Amino acid sequence: MTFSQSGSLPTQSGTAGASPPPTLLHHEAALQAIDIVKNFGSLNVLRGVSVSLFRGEITAIVGDNGAGKSTFMKVLCGEHIPDGGQLCVNGKEVRLRSTQDAQRYGIETVYQDLALAPDLSVAENVYLGRELPAAGWRGTLGMLDRAAMQASTAETLRELGVTLKTYRTTTKSLSGGQRQGVAIARAIKWARHAIMLDEPTAALGTLQREMVYRAIRAAAKRNLAVLLISHDLPQVLEIADRIIVMRQGRAIANLLPCDVTVRDVVDVMLGAKEVTQ
Ligand SMILES: Nc1ncnc2c1ncn2[C@@H]1O[C@H](COP(=O)(O)OP(=O)(O)OP(=O)(O)O)[C@@H](O)[C@H]1O
Ligand SMILES: [Mg+2]
Repeated sequence: MTFSQSGSLPTQSGTAGASPPPTLLHHEAALQAIDIVKNFGSLNVLRGVSVSLFRGEITAIVGDNGAGKSTFMKVLCGEHIPDGGQLCVNGKEVRLRSTQDAQRYGIETVYQDLALAPDLSVAENVYLGRELPAAGWRGTLGMLDRAAMQASTAETLRELGVTLKTYRTTTKSLSGGQRQGVAIARAIKWARHAIMLDEPTAALGTLQREMVYRAIRAAAKRNLAVLLISHDLPQVLEIADRIIVMRQGRAIANLLPCDVTVRDVVDVMLGAKEVTQ
């Protein structure tokens, strides 16, 4: 079997015995990682991972447990500082020292544990740390424009197909799928270039998963680059434009969903099938 290669991923970089091909800067990539290396002590978790994320495209990363997917995403969102390699936003090299750095570059992340404040309302969560001051003297006294924040939050959630009875409720009273919808809405609202989601549908029911996937599609339609880490392979094949397979700290394949079956992807993940270039 031959798998399609888009050419944007130097998939064999770091392959034992082969000298890695030169990695080119993709000026049109919203976010590009080149030969990222990350070690935890003596553990080489990322061994030269190169991935390009493009606007309007959903790129899925799949791989067995421990392949390095979350670690890679944490490098892209500034949570982990890499031991080697380069990160570029819109073709310019950046150094991310924190998640706030990544946010300043227009990169937003949805974590599996959501990181919503449970006692704050939906709108307060969406605007957390980015509150809108009230107009005029009220703003100078530190008062907030709650009506505008609520209206804008409601609009974003409606656009994403996330339905809530009220936007004033605290997020702890929402269902898991609704909370995930709020977290995605927040990421989409503030992202300028890319959003990244690590297992956003784990522990969700079928309908809630659908809602999250609708929101992910909406993010790509808004011309953001979307990175999705998921073990839900049938859904990945349906939603992703490209699938990157990671194994043992390397990106070993760059597949087009139209060319492969779930079985093919599993075989590549587990090393039962090799990718032909
Ligand atoms: N902060 C850390 N300190 C030490 N080792 C870590 C740390 N984070 C991850 N690792 C190790 O790095 C390896 C890759 O972990 P990572 O979480 O990136 O895998 P993953 O592909 O996301 O797996 P899963 O599908 O189970 O979520 C694992 O062996 C893990 O134990
Ligand atoms: Mg993980």
